[in-house]
Amino acid sequence: MRLPFLTRITAMAGHNTYLSTTNLRRVQWGEGRRPALWCWTRPHPLRQMRAMSLDARYPALSDLKARAQRRLPRFVWEYLDSGTGSEQARRAGPDALQQIALMPSILHGEMTPDLGTTLLGQSHPLPFGIGPVGMSGLIWPDAERHLARAAAVAGIPYTLSTVAAQTPEDIGPLAGNHAWFQLYPPRDEAIRLDMLARARAAGFKVLVLTVDVPVASRRERQTRSGLTQPPRLTARLMTQVAKCPAWAMGMARLGLPRMRLIDSYAGDTSGLPSTAHAGYLLRTSPDRAYLDWLRAHWDGPLVVKGVLDPADLPMLEAAGVDAIWISNHGGRQFDGAPATVRQLPLMRRATDLPLIFDGGVTGGLDILRALALGADFVMMARPWHYALAALGPDGPAHLARILAADMSSNMGQLGARRVGDLPGRLIGTPAT
Ligand SMILES: Cc1cc2nc3c(=O)[nH]c(=O)nc-3n(C[C@H](O)[C@H](O)[C@H](O)COP(=O)(O)O)c2cc1C
Repeated sequence: MRLPFLTRITAMAGHNTYLSTTNLRRVQWGEGRRPALWCWTRPHPLRQMRAMSLDARYPALSDLKARAQRRLPRFVWEYLDSGTGSEQARRAGPDALQQIALMPSILHGEMTPDLGTTLLGQSHPLPFGIGPVGMSGLIWPDAERHLARAAAVAGIPYTLSTVAAQTPEDIGPLAGNHAWFQLYPPRDEAIRLDMLARARAAGFKVLVLTVDVPVASRRERQTRSGLTQPPRLTARLMTQVAKCPAWAMGMARLGLPRMRLIDSYAGDTSGLPSTAHAGYLLRTSPDRAYLDWLRAHWDGPLVVKGVLDPADLPMLEAAGVDAIWISNHGGRQFDGAPATVRQLPLMRRATDLPLIFDGGVTGGLDILRALALGADFVMMARPWHYALAALGPDGPAHLARILAADMSSNMGQLGARRVGDLPGRLIGTPAT
């Protein structure tokens, strides 16, 4: 059987990477220093066999999630998967997404959906990317590097967290054209200036200010699992680790991760663990003056993450923000928060700024639903880590492939030739 293949040839990387078995057909030159050509070619046979075998065994994100849970020590799984409180806010995301119906189309003739879009002045071959996750390196050994490389190959944004296990200098050069840096706001101005300068020098183009962590939250599932901050391998945790050899061997090789960017500002607090530095250094509840300061000191695109209330939009517009990231932090901060997808149409009606969406995406169809409701771009955080934990470094590329395939197939059902056609296929918005 001959299958069509989409291969991205990254001129700079100088290698071919098999991306999709779907009927995507697209030729595009990327921007900046890394021209990229998407076209139909046959991938290397071994890579092709590997991808087909992954497609057969793990055709959906749910397959990756199930395997990830089996391969991670319980405290790591709970760190990644949990929310706060009774987890209604975490569950509400996927539940509300699935209530959104789109109208299929008939007699629209042959078509090849175009999944590309533009955001913040850059074109993107796919309308989704990788959101920030603190201490990714605890979830899977060297997670930040694997995710940054996979993002560069797929041509999608990778957002590095302030509290990641790697520094901007390590990750920026790996992340390709779409390296985003997420800021938990340092209280000290000199540190703030230095962090921005380091992110810029390392190639990060977009700055994301997270504003939905005004105080630390309680994560009861994490606490029950025995996870402490910083992580300490007690006898109880070692019992969990012993059941997960792949994770254990990776960590034995690399050592338990630390928040390396935060550690680099240890100063007088050098005796403290990195989580204590983080609590001290990062002012978690910035105000309008802080945002104005940031706008004045970052000349690239500035995104504010964690916005749910349309009433906040005039203030953010006046502050000169370039895009709004609708998020409830995956239900990890405030269990009374609404599902992001319920706020999305309200936000769309209230602003012309680009809207980035996250919260409970379970597959390509959910991405289409968010785009149909007015999102300009969709981010995912946990799913990429499910993929990494399930399949190691091959996981993120596999996830990008099945998401693109799912989107392409569903756009064919909808008769949507491009993502801009999706709002026209929306039947109704979820009740708010
Ligand atoms: C383990 C974990 C750590 C996170 N760390 C950060 C972080 O450092 N900065 C941030 O802005 N958001 C952080 N988030 C929130 C995610 O970026 C995202 O908003 C949220 O998980 C919803 O997306 P999802 O449903 O695709 O996971 C974290 C989420 C998880 C699950």
